[in-house]
Amino acid sequence: MTATAQARPPKVVATGISKWYGALEVLHNVTLEIHQGEFVCLLGPSGCGKTTLMRTLDGLILPDEGSVQLDGALITSPPRQAAVVFQQFGLFPWKTVSQNVAFPMVLDRLPPTQIDEKVKWAIDLVGLKGFEAAYPDRLSGGMRQRVGIARALALGPELLLMDEPFASVDAYTRELLQAELLSIWERFRQTVVFVTHSIDEAITLADRIVVMKAKPGEVLHIYDVPIERPRTIASVRRHPAYEPLRAKIWEDMLTGSGREM
Ligand SMILES: Nc1ncnc2c1ncn2[C@@H]1O[C@H](COP(=O)(O)OP(=O)(O)OP(=O)(O)O)[C@@H](O)[C@H]1O
Ligand SMILES: [Mg+2]
Repeated sequence: MTATAQARPPKVVATGISKWYGALEVLHNVTLEIHQGEFVCLLGPSGCGKTTLMRTLDGLILPDEGSVQLDGALITSPPRQAAVVFQQFGLFPWKTVSQNVAFPMVLDRLPPTQIDEKVKWAIDLVGLKGFEAAYPDRLSGGMRQRVGIARALALGPELLLMDEPFASVDAYTRELLQAELLSIWERFRQTVVFVTHSIDEAITLADRIVVMKAKPGEVLHIYDVPIERPRTIASVRRHPAYEPLRAKIWEDMLTGSGREM
């Protein structure tokens, strides 16, 4: 962890979380501290419990053992400070871009003028100006995910939980969205927890990478990414720390999934 991140107060503290589904222990004694304004990526083999861990951070599921705190308060239900972005966009096909972005705020009964303002701001931020009245089926995968991101950002979240948000788009769009997310995050410095299967994506985005192993889901290693910001995809790939870090994480991933090199 960088000295500056360590100096900040912890935003999210997960302590000794375990979660069972029937006889299956999905998470085992997961302890994790995420600092204010930190960008943390969760990486690990399929089924190791990344989504389950994210849901405990968002208060959607409660751990069987251990606890999660946000700003020092125990999480027992989805907190207002957090917003979630999923892999499958989660858009309503019968609502326009604006209506999709507005939806959580309408549920929250925010005043309509405030909603309009926030919707406009978020749509501009993700580069969807001009598409406010479009329906999702008229949008590319990348644009749909921009709507998902705008919907989360419009809430002004302090904690942004992103579960494989770029896994459903093509490789080019994925890099574009990574660059856009980085530039938004450089401006606002929300605390971000981002799940990915891609080592490259994790190194590009994260301050720290939490590598998990499966059966049961546990934290295997936590790596600092010693690559200065602002970053571009090119600057990350050129950095001398990139290849050695990539190789170490790759080895962890093989260990974590139970496979040998
Ligand atoms: N509601 C549920 N009931 C029973 N088992 C579940 C439930 N949700 C998840 N699981 C199981 O828990 C384990 C972890 O699932 P989870 O979705 O958290 O993994 P993941 O790391 O996000 O996987 P992926 O990379 O494929 O998204 C898996 O074995 C899954 O089948
Ligand atoms: Mg998952």
